[in-house]
Amino acid sequence: MATSAAASKPIDPSIILHPNDIAAVPGILGEIVTRGVTALSPTGDDAARLALLESARALVRALEKPRETMIRHCWADNTAFAALSMGIEAGVWAHLGSDDEPKSVAAIAAATNMEEAWLARLLKHVAAMGYIHETGHDEYRPTNFSKALTIPILGAGYRVFTGPGNTGGLSKCVSTLVSYSKKTGYTTPNSMSDGNLQFAFDTKYNMFEWLHANPPGGEQFNLHMGGYAHGRPRWMDDGFYPVQERLLDGFVPAEESAALLVDIGGSMGHDLDGFLKKFPEVKGRLVLQDTEAVIGQITALDSRIERTVHDFFKEQPVKGARAYYMHSILHDWPDDVCLSILANIKAAMGPGSRLLINENVIQDIGAQWEATALDVMMASLLSSRERTRVDWSRLLEEGAGFKINGVYTFANGVESLIECVLPEAE
Ligand SMILES: C[S@@+](CC[C@H](N)C(=O)[O-])C[C@H]1O[C@@H](n2cnc3c(N)ncnc32)[C@H](O)[C@@H]1O
Repeated sequence: MATSAAASKPIDPSIILHPNDIAAVPGILGEIVTRGVTALSPTGDDAARLALLESARALVRALEKPRETMIRHCWADNTAFAALSMGIEAGVWAHLGSDDEPKSVAAIAAATNMEEAWLARLLKHVAAMGYIHETGHDEYRPTNFSKALTIPILGAGYRVFTGPGNTGGLSKCVSTLVSYSKKTGYTTPNSMSDGNLQFAFDTKYNMFEWLHANPPGGEQFNLHMGGYAHGRPRWMDDGFYPVQERLLDGFVPAEESAALLVDIGGSMGHDLDGFLKKFPEVKGRLVLQDTEAVIGQITALDSRIERTVHDFFKEQPVKGARAYYMHSILHDWPDDVCLSILANIKAAMGPGSRLLINENVIQDIGAQWEATALDVMMASLLSSRERTRVDWSRLLEEGAGFKINGVYTFANGVESLIECVLPEAE
């Protein structure tokens, strides 16, 4: 048959010597010029910058030869990741970024207690990868990026993916995904007790339990969640979800106990904090719910936000709130588990209540890489998934019996806001 003949035709090995897509280069260069003019103009917005960035990435992929792409994947990016992580642990980026003056490896080694010869090799690679500036032999200056690595919510991602301790961190689950999938016959990871993370760490814990059992994994993960969300368009931003019309109008708190917004699994409270900063005059309770381990870690949060311990597998204690909000919660769990979480919320909702789900809606065509990366990461860590529009409808409407009132999407790759109500409401 034509298809099997085509499949069995050997690939000509000489393709290794050719750029991946040289024919595309002139078009990409033209796109870069056009997009560059828009992005760099005084009116250029973040969407224009992101479009230019995508063209720049496409240029690299097209110009590279397969060998170069392979080396980048197998050696270059992961060793840079290790060197950057080591620099965070040892305080290299903090010292290098203390001012913009060039610093010698000897001075950085003395300040961080690292062996000079080892540090010199690591910094050479980090500079070769473009993450710090080389100003002379064994002398470097920081970049905006290397300075940013000292900010806890940014550094925490590196820490939780390389540690805690000598566990190998969450990155280990990315390496074991291939052998785990082979073992399970290349089927979708869906076991919560025998998934890839349990395979990687030989544990019965789920990811959250494992992180908290390996301190400071839980704390670093919570910071990482803050770093992931930081600076991204948020559902309460102008032009995203009409907060005034859909949430605030029509909410008349008859009594003091009336809740406006309950953030279920809200981590350290960054979403509620952002909401309160944006809408400081709102009436009604703002309730943060998470596990004891997480709530206990909060040191500073606006006093209007109530910090409460709640297990979302148990009865929802706040009844009839205007909105129950969940950000990056359902993507942590397979559908059958999500149905238990949703049932507890549904039972607490009143006729005017909304369920707001802040999650990726993966596009059928042209999905953005940050969302697709998260999808595979979810499979590797929690046997769970990011969902398409059809998946959401199956889970929320057919499965949990809600009515989806609207899906508010700001941009491809930015988590949408899915508004649901009880089927009998509105
Ligand atoms: C992926 S994080 C998302 C956190 C936050 N909503 C955000 O977007 O940054 C999932 C959160 O669910 C919380 N969680 C896990 N199991 C829980 C449970 N049984 N009850 C309540 N929260 C839970 C975790 O502690 C964590 O804060």
